[in-house]
Amino acid sequence: MSDEYQKELPRRGEFVGRVISHSDFGARSKCISVELTGTAARVFARTKAGQFVQFSCRNLDETRSPVPLLRRPFSIGGVRSDGPKSNGPDEPNGDERLSFDVIYQLLGPGTRWLEQRRPNETINLLGPLGNGFSLPQQRQTRIILIGGGVGLPPMFFLANQLFRSGYKDTTAFAGIQTAAHFEPEIITRKFDECDCPCEISTDDGSYGFRGNAVEALEEFLGKNPDWQQAQIYACGPGVMLKAVAALAQRRGMPCQVCMEAYMSCGIGICQSCAVRVRDKNSAEQAVDDKPQHKANDKPQYKLVCTNGPVFDSREIMWDE
Ligand SMILES: Cc1cc2nc3c(=O)[nH]c(=O)nc-3n(C[C@H](O)[C@H](O)[C@H](O)COP(=O)(O)OP(=O)(O)OC[C@H]3O[C@@H](n4cnc5c(N)ncnc54)[C@H](O)[C@@H]3O)c2cc1C
Ligand code: FES
Repeated sequence: MSDEYQKELPRRGEFVGRVISHSDFGARSKCISVELTGTAARVFARTKAGQFVQFSCRNLDETRSPVPLLRRPFSIGGVRSDGPKSNGPDEPNGDERLSFDVIYQLLGPGTRWLEQRRPNETINLLGPLGNGFSLPQQRQTRIILIGGGVGLPPMFFLANQLFRSGYKDTTAFAGIQTAAHFEPEIITRKFDECDCPCEISTDDGSYGFRGNAVEALEEFLGKNPDWQQAQIYACGPGVMLKAVAALAQRRGMPCQVCMEAYMSCGIGICQSCAVRVRDKNSAEQAVDDKPQHKANDKPQYKLVCTNGPVFDSREIMWDE
């Protein structure tokens, strides 16, 4: 596809996707695959791991009960180019097609609506939103992925992008509360497909390492000092990201974190997703083991939805 052709595409858009499959990912988690065609497929072909979609979790023509009113954000867990769609024998090379996965945990009205979607039904969505992870320039860089709970889907996507781009030394740490929430075998298979070994930890010890993923990583680094120079990528609950950021800072390891925040618009208008950050210079100088507000820090705000969700871990003011 020529650069000229790609340049004309918008960065993101409002599209209608078609559900192509919907499967269990654990007792309270599902994986929904959504197909896009035409312009939407071409726009999403440029998606980077870390980006997300905003699903409208209701039928938009339902005016009497517009609940839930706000769209719901979900990370893109993987993208597949499905090739041109045949519109029949007279038009074998029709629209381009692409599908993407969202892995989600059942919580409230939005995810309950999503759970009811069946193959061939449609979903209105905005995307792809936010930035994404930046890959290291050197293919031989060692890479550590660490994901917790619903922070795992971007890690699956990133493992796939790294694998396809020729990065060979990647290892993953996956933290879940209990084996019943996310199927450990599916998690292992997802990373295996990308040649990425994965250590699973569960808070209750029901599978793998007993404890959290950051403790598992700390133990691994203690036993494997040659991984001390690795690039870390993390996504998960705030408390996990804060612990990963502290570990990275203590050990002088570069670390990018994919943040979650309460979101309304997802496109930089409502300001509901602001996080406090340091200015870039003091973030780069932050080298001690306490990534907290220092006298010369100039706090600023950034929006998780448009400036993020991926940030350099040193940039975030974790203690605020
Ligand atoms: C950038 C981003 C990516 C996300 N990716 C995923 C994903 O891949 N899979 C997934 O399952 N979920 C993901 N989430 C969280 C997801 O958006 C919420 O679980 C979803 O909006 C819940 O909607 P609901 O209507 O079912 O529940 P609600 O009724 O809206 O919420 C149910 C409960 O979850 C809490 N909650 C809702 N949203 C958040 C949030 N953003 N942070 C913390 N607590 C929250 C509420 O306070 C409430 O207690 C992501 C969130 C963000 C911001
Ligand atoms: S969600 Fe509205 S500005 Fe970020």
